[in-house]
Amino acid sequence: MTERLPWHKAQALIEKHTGPVITARPIKEGFNSEIAVVINDTTFVKGLRGDHPRVWTQERERRINPHIRHVSAPLRWTETTGDWDLNGFDAIDGRTASYKPSSPDLEPIVAMTAHWPPAPDGVELKRAEHRWSSYSDRSELFTGDWLSHTDWSPTNILIARDGRASMLDWAWPTSGARWIDPACWIIWLIASGHHPAQAQAWASKIPPFAAAPVHAVTAFAQAQAAMWEDIGVHAPRPGLADAAARWVKYRTT
Ligand SMILES: Nc1ncnc2c1ncn2[C@@H]1O[C@H](COP(=O)(O)OP(=O)(O)OP(=O)(O)O)[C@@H](O)[C@H]1O
Ligand SMILES: [Mg+2]
Repeated sequence: MTERLPWHKAQALIEKHTGPVITARPIKEGFNSEIAVVINDTTFVKGLRGDHPRVWTQERERRINPHIRHVSAPLRWTETTGDWDLNGFDAIDGRTASYKPSSPDLEPIVAMTAHWPPAPDGVELKRAEHRWSSYSDRSELFTGDWLSHTDWSPTNILIARDGRASMLDWAWPTSGARWIDPACWIIWLIASGHHPAQAQAWASKIPPFAAAPVHAVTAFAQAQAAMWEDIGVHAPRPGLADAAARWVKYRTT
């Protein structure tokens, strides 16, 4: 976990792009960025110090943004001078998604995934078969040429007033099978109160998941269970390891 720092440490750099700061709303959700703040109700600024070990994720977000801005927030500017690496996005006026059973947000989330692009050429991406190779001896089953977000924390989805869902925080863009993202979503749905069958029914509304090879999805569920178990108390919320284990049990018994 990265501690949030007061955004005004980078105020001069931010103001180069936004003009004078009239309002600043620091964001509590998420925990990987040192700075996360909405400036003047128009710009979301996300930043790490230039020497932070995960500063490469800022560059990944910049490179992937042109390919996903239609389902996310457009990147407007970048500032890498001084001690900081800052990305300035359009601020989305919305609320964090709810994954609870009967949440009205689940349908718009399914609709959003219809606009996912293939893995773009010329953008460095993680590869699904490498990311989970230490948790599966069949990780080649996860290979594919589709773009996956992979971090399905509901804090990474904002629901606008018109009900539309946007997926934020593209720090770990990954190429993989087209069913990987719905499969990642399932674990969060179970952790949020869905029975595994119900969670799979939601994911199956996304056609590539409905058509996914059964043995590949089971291998992925097992890899996720092993990963969340390994992450243990450092997980972004409790219950994910248990949810993944319940999903595996449901698929294998
Ligand atoms: N464009 C945006 N407009 C408004 N709010 C946003 C925007 N992008 C992100 N947020 C809010 O800021 C929070 C933190 O952003 P983000 O998830 O990108 O960063 P993070 O700190 O790296 O999070 P994580 O710990 O999940 O990796 C999000 O959970 C969301 O509530
Ligand atoms: Mg986040």
